[in-house]
Amino acid sequence: MSNNGAVSGYIDANLDRFREELFEFLRIPSVSARSEHNDDTREAAEWLMQKMKHAGLETTLHETAGHPILVGEWRGAGSDAPTVLIYGHYDVQPPEPLDLWTSPAFEPEIRDGRIYARGSVDDKGQLYLHVKAIEAHLKANGRLPVNVVMLAEGEEEVGSENLMPFVEKHVDLLKTDAVVISDSTMFAPGMPSIGVSLRGLAYFEIRVRGAKSDLHSGSYGGAVANPATALARIIASFHDDDGHILIDGFYDDVVAAPEFVEQIRTLPFDEQEYIAEVGAPALVGEKGYTTYERLWIRPTCEVNGLLSGYTEEGAKTVLPAYAMAKVSCRRVPDQDPKKIEKLFQKHVEKVAPSGVTVEVLVLHGGKPWRARLEGSLYEAGARALRHAFGRDVIYAGEGGSIPIVSEFERVLGAPALLMGFGLPGENAHAPDEWMSVENFEKGTHASARLLEELGS
Ligand code: BES
Ligand code: MN
Ligand code: MN
Repeated sequence: MSNNGAVSGYIDANLDRFREELFEFLRIPSVSARSEHNDDTREAAEWLMQKMKHAGLETTLHETAGHPILVGEWRGAGSDAPTVLIYGHYDVQPPEPLDLWTSPAFEPEIRDGRIYARGSVDDKGQLYLHVKAIEAHLKANGRLPVNVVMLAEGEEEVGSENLMPFVEKHVDLLKTDAVVISDSTMFAPGMPSIGVSLRGLAYFEIRVRGAKSDLHSGSYGGAVANPATALARIIASFHDDDGHILIDGFYDDVVAAPEFVEQIRTLPFDEQEYIAEVGAPALVGEKGYTTYERLWIRPTCEVNGLLSGYTEEGAKTVLPAYAMAKVSCRRVPDQDPKKIEKLFQKHVEKVAPSGVTVEVLVLHGGKPWRARLEGSLYEAGARALRHAFGRDVIYAGEGGSIPIVSEFERVLGAPALLMGFGLPGENAHAPDEWMSVENFEKGTHASARLLEELGS
């Protein structure tokens, strides 16, 4: 039996260094979406590989058509002991708009117990705490209680396109009894949480073209179709006044999940607090559902970006030739990605006004996921989190997507534990992203304890 006191002692004695190392990681602008950051993204992979090696993992960098995938292994627990696969991503979202950051996105700074930087919580801080937990076991005890495979990718924020085939191709290397992921949020501060669902995604770009070039809006306006107006009509056709989605067949495969709804309704919800957190004047959403149901078990159709015509200072009288929208649909079990793509394309074709041409591109997608919550993995997770945070876990849904999770379960046949250490209001993907110092530290203890629990 290994000495857990030594492990948590090692963690406590090294927390300052762990945080400083995380700061180094955060200073590398590994923005996967931007090719001008390709070298930085590689640098983040190489930096992380060195740290995984230093922790004691035998680590290999696998080239892909995009950003590298890292696999770190420690298999000294023997073939009778279970294997745990820990997954996370070292890429981050673009930091723009830069002028809305209080301190620069890639110059981490602590204010009020929070580490502010792009990637702090999504996902560098949450990934790195597992590296440190592994280091603590191996330096304090010379061994881990279980076999560990750590898998880190650099394309999560752009759809994990190269990780999917990698997992299929390396089933033997990645073979595991459990998958552990920290890339989600806790229900509330101080309330350790296990994530029980993720929504899937189907992402589209709609391009609307009218005349062959921009035109004088006086000379031609009224006689020639306006692509911006046409696009607005298309977008407005997605919902009715009650927030239901009007795409034919969109809800056909949505599973009602009454047990999950019942459990969701036991969770406390403070509407005023939520309104204050998001800073919007009021909440809206699909009629007949509570806020958590809208976020966790109902699909959506959201405009992510809009582009058309003149948007600079002052007025310019112009009839635009082009309009574009980025639209994403969050999906829930059992909506099929291919089917939703077809239904969406058919709907846009059907409602497209005359006088313009409309093109729908499919950018990326991912499957939704729901935990079955049975077996020793979830019990071990609950015990580890209770140990680190001093209170019982909450089982909460997540509105976001991690497309690889359902693939892990399908291809590797192992259950996934979502043990997130983010918090509401963390500003992931937005300016002033932060992770709480306390959660980075308690998360490290929780991870170390989880390995212990899974080994016993
Ligand atoms: N960590 C998030 C996903 C997430 C957020 C899970 C909040 C649970 C709670 C992840 O990095 C992410 O942003 N995923 C993308 C999907 C991807 C295909 C671009 C997302 O949800 O938009
Ligand atoms: Mn993430
Ligand atoms: Mn993200």
